Amino acid sequence: AGNGLQKLFALAGDPDARLLGVKPAADPYPLYEKLRARGPLSQNRMGFYLTPTHELVSAMLRDQRLGTTSSAALDGVRWQRHPEDEQLVHPVEHSLLTMNPPEHTRLRKVVAPWFTPRALRDRTDRVEQTVTEFLDEIGDGEFDLVRDFAIRVPVRVICDLFGISDDHRDAFSRWGTVLAGTLDGIRTIRERRAVRDTLVEMTAFFDNLVEHRRTHPGTDDVVTGLVRARPDGAALNRRDLVALAGLLLGAGFETTVNLISNGVTALLANPDAKRLLIEEPDRAADITEEVLRFDPPVQVTGRLTHEPVEYGGTRIPANRLIVLFLGGANRDPAVFAEPTRFDADRPNNREHLAFSSGIHYCLGAGLARIEGEVALRELFRRYPHLRAAGTPLRREGRTIRGLRSMPMHTGVPR
Ligand code: HEM
Repeated sequence: AGNGLQKLFALAGDPDARLLGVKPAADPYPLYEKLRARGPLSQNRMGFYLTPTHELVSAMLRDQRLGTTSSAALDGVRWQRHPEDEQLVHPVEHSLLTMNPPEHTRLRKVVAPWFTPRALRDRTDRVEQTVTEFLDEIGDGEFDLVRDFAIRVPVRVICDLFGISDDHRDAFSRWGTVLAGTLDGIRTIRERRAVRDTLVEMTAFFDNLVEHRRTHPGTDDVVTGLVRARPDGAALNRRDLVALAGLLLGAGFETTVNLISNGVTALLANPDAKRLLIEEPDRAADITEEVLRFDPPVQVTGRLTHEPVEYGGTRIPANRLIVLFLGGANRDPAVFAEPTRFDADRPNNREHLAFSSGIHYCLGAGLARIEGEVALRELFRRYPHLRAAGTPLRREGRTIRGLRSMPMHTGVPR
């Protein structure tokens, strides 16, 4: 979703104010149920169409008559202020997420090889080493689950993919926070300035990295691959290169950090599931899958009708925005029995839509699954008595759901 779309979300008034409005609800799930009670497809005062049902979200994500949105299409608040800002590259607006075929198809093919099951199999050991290293550093006692663990794992994994060290992790996480914020729209001058400043830093960083790889190619890192790629016989242009690298960085950790923190939250609240993970660590994949269904890091996305479509007797004209609640689809009682229950034994938890569907289906899904699985399994293997040691702080924002901070104690006797 582009920031224009999100700006419109922000303007969307009652009755969806708490789902789409400026101040997001701490717990959106009851709101999805209110929406569901209104029917599979409703329209709000802004003229947006909204759906929380699994059937419609899934069908619409795969419907080629719908496309992604960009802020240009929706004329939202722009972060560009000056002509020279045209040189800045926005990793969401200028990349796969907001592209439509045929550009989307061409670019996606270029990065896909780093995410095949085979490429991922080769990365699993490294993810395990990484997790072990960070757990060793935590040792025993109090720590912050987000700062000291959940964020470090995906940042390191993505840096490995880029063939760079994670020395810049503080800058990355600062950029990630600002960019994830833009998914919810830019509302104030301060926010706009923060976005622009971030894009200045980020564009420079990736411009440099790309240039460096031109002259110092690596062996199997993704940036070298992007520099060398010649889809349809031509090299990628600078904007595509920088945007794609930025997207991989941002999408690679701003989401996965929340898979881990939402997973720990769910497991601490569900002792049976926690016991299962500790007693049968090879069930970690099922548990991770249920975390993705139960509390997905990306709660909402949007699509624009490219032509008139009809769903369930409702005709939607061209150029209308449809808001798709992934978090609502994942709790649809028509697909998931007792959807509010965390249940790792659910026969169909893989039908969740946490990674979207269709042509924009998350490229990093396999990698995220490995990270979630290894992180949760090893964390609880090491600290079966892990417990909260303070009040967790939720992230603000509607699109991304997770925690900003989680003070914990490793639970080892003092
Ligand atoms: C796209 C979720 C991890 C890279 C998406 C979309 C969702 C999503 C919902 C599609 C949005 C839409 O259809 O509008 C998640 C979640 C993750 C995660 C919940 C972690 C739990 C990752 C990782 C990477 C990644 C680790 C890369 C290293 C991407 C890319 C796209 C994408 C490149 C754009 C694909 C396209 O437009 O063709 N992700 N993601 N994601 N994700 Fe992920």
